[in-house]
Amino acid sequence: MKKTLDKLKVMVVMGTRPEVIKMAPVIQSLQQHPDQFQTIVVATAQHRGLLDQALSIFRIQPDLDLNLMNTGQGLPDLTGRVLSSMAQTLSKTKPDMVMVQGDTTTVLATALAAFYQKIPVAHIEAGLRTYHKYSPFPEEMNRRLTSVMADVHFAPTLSAKHALLKEGISDSTIVVTGNTVVDALLHVCELPEPLGHPVLSTLDFDQYRLLLVTSHRRESWGLELQNICMAIKEIVEKYPDVLVVYPVHPNPVVQSTAMDILGGMERIKLVEPLDYLTFIHLMKKSYMILTDSGGLQEEAPTLKKPLLLLREVTERPEAFDSGFAKIVGTNHQNIVKETEFLLNDRNAYEKMIRGDNPYGDGKAGHRIVQALCHWGKRAAPLLSSEEEFTFSLKN
Ligand code: UD1
Ligand code: UDP
Repeated sequence: MKKTLDKLKVMVVMGTRPEVIKMAPVIQSLQQHPDQFQTIVVATAQHRGLLDQALSIFRIQPDLDLNLMNTGQGLPDLTGRVLSSMAQTLSKTKPDMVMVQGDTTTVLATALAAFYQKIPVAHIEAGLRTYHKYSPFPEEMNRRLTSVMADVHFAPTLSAKHALLKEGISDSTIVVTGNTVVDALLHVCELPEPLGHPVLSTLDFDQYRLLLVTSHRRESWGLELQNICMAIKEIVEKYPDVLVVYPVHPNPVVQSTAMDILGGMERIKLVEPLDYLTFIHLMKKSYMILTDSGGLQEEAPTLKKPLLLLREVTERPEAFDSGFAKIVGTNHQNIVKETEFLLNDRNAYEKMIRGDNPYGDGKAGHRIVQALCHWGKRAAPLLSSEEEFTFSLKN
């Protein structure tokens, strides 16, 4: 049986850009309670540049940096390296609990390393499901496998909690928190807009409607990503008042497809990945978003921007139920048709952005830390139902 702990030694592990953004509010909340938590921040650095960019915006300095990224890394190789490095790190540090966020290789391999040493795991953003084994790939499977190993499940929404319950996970180990990305986003929105970006500062955003594009998913590599790029090209050619900014993911596969099809076009700006602060200010200026990103599906409702999802399925149904997002897939003609619809029909556009944000209220980090505190004291429930995040559709 778990003993009661006066001060919990919590290891927070992150590997990629979205993990840093979404863990930052949790780290901040943990560090506000030094009497209750000893917080150890570990970067696997599955991402190098993107991770450092995000760490710097949130002023996080990892206590340990495993520096694991290789250019063009494959899944088995990366998984093996995270697993063995994290196993060593856990043996040396012996935390009372390990926290992971989301669905990356870092999450799965860290949870497995902790399981091998019988160290409890808390999983943030638990319970997102498509029930399509290969979409998103490998993230759907990473999430499911992590849920089996986790001891505490921080579900961002009620539907995520229901998915966990359906899989036989005990109600007493699940807390509905809202998504921590909303906490991060609200914090960053308060900060002044950074000026002087070499490309963005030259653009006249009043003259154009800005389509913000990101696409990087493994399951889209090849034909699907080519379709997406061809559709974007067609839209820009048809609409002289449209400007596209596409911060291209550093993955060599993504870079080469985007450059081949979209490089050199005047109103398509392929830029390096933007730091989170710059990116959020750009999102605020955008007319709409075309993306396959997970995090952007949660941010668009917070900033009240319509989003077209360049994927066939989503594990984040709330943005769609609330009207903010539409699944358009990766078919060239369909992407063009749905984008044109929103460019031409202002009523349809306005209708998409009327709802409330289903993803959070900016207090997720606080809820997670409160629940952890109860977990350390073996108090039940981890959080009272009145304190959990709730959201209900108005209509
Ligand atoms: C990873 C996650 C994905 C998440 C995405 C966020 C897995 C399996 N995938 O995908 O769930 O949506 O991060 O962006 O965990 N690279 C750099 N510099 C960087 C980052 C990446 O050069 O800062 C290049 C490297 O060549 C690297 C490659 O991108 O090998 C792939 O990185 P990896 O983390 O394996 O996969 P992502 O596609 O980034
Ligand atoms: N993002 C960013 N700069 C960019 C593109 C995205 O800071 O140039 C942020 C975005 O706001 C979101 C997160 O990165 O919070 C999403 O990361 P990504 O799309 O890489 O991963 P996913 O969310 O799909 O796992």
